[in-house]
Amino acid sequence: MLEIQNLSKRFQNGPDVLSSLSFSIEHGESVAIVGPSGCGKSTLLNIISGLQSANSGKVKYQMRRHIDSKAEVFNYPIEHERKTEKTLNILRKENLGVVFQRFNLIEHLTVLENIALPAEHKGNFEPDYINSLLEKLDIQFHEHKYPAQLSGGQQQRVAIARALAHKPQLVLADEPTGNLDPKTASAVGDLLFDAVSSSGAALILVTHSLALAKRADRLLEIRDGALYRVQDDNDQ
Ligand SMILES: Nc1ncnc2c1ncn2[C@@H]1O[C@H](COP(=O)(O)OP(=O)(O)OP(=O)(O)O)[C@@H](O)[C@H]1O
Ligand SMILES: [Mg+2]
Repeated sequence: MLEIQNLSKRFQNGPDVLSSLSFSIEHGESVAIVGPSGCGKSTLLNIISGLQSANSGKVKYQMRRHIDSKAEVFNYPIEHERKTEKTLNILRKENLGVVFQRFNLIEHLTVLENIALPAEHKGNFEPDYINSLLEKLDIQFHEHKYPAQLSGGQQQRVAIARALAHKPQLVLADEPTGNLDPKTASAVGDLLFDAVSSSGAALILVTHSLALAKRADRLLEIRDGALYRVQDDNDQ
């Protein structure tokens, strides 16, 4: 559903962050990406979600459009045309759920309004599903509060609910348990994996938690700007 070819990214006056990185993920698959602080994990997710541009390479999506459920292939070269960009924006809004490292909640909207926004935009707002997410994430008693009234861990769980509420085809989660105590982190991990497996979505998970990373189908590490498979201790 997503294929990345030879992606390179360099910030102005900085070293190469990503260099000729290639990667692909299929529907229903989960991939964990690990690597030291500053190696380019968030940069990679930002390029996939279209928030940042790359210097070279390609990002290709194959996703269904909500309106006609037809699968369409979008070749998304980095030097994309304006027309493609507009369609891609719609596809991303409908089909991507993103948990940002810094949450990026909308401050003037309540918890419930934040969570409901992508589903309302997509036209698949399902109150029962959203209530179940709130309960599973233990934030049901905060739904009418504003993000600034919540702790970091509570805001993080709101960000997770928002990423799942519209049932996207691909979930990008950047350090989604970074602010949580071990017990809550484990419960949130369960929710993420359950939500994607029950909906057939794909998950790209960036984490410093090896316990969480090992639950993914594939474990990859960014090294020198490229992705490598991490050998599991159980691998022979
Ligand atoms: N807007 C920017 N301008 C210049 N350099 C940047 C910018 N954003 C990130 N960088 C640099 O790019 C590198 C990769 O950053 P990135 O945020 O992707 O790291 P990360 O792997 O997500 O780290 P962490 O685990 O700490 O979240 C870092 O060296 C960072 O300083
Ligand atoms: Mg990061």
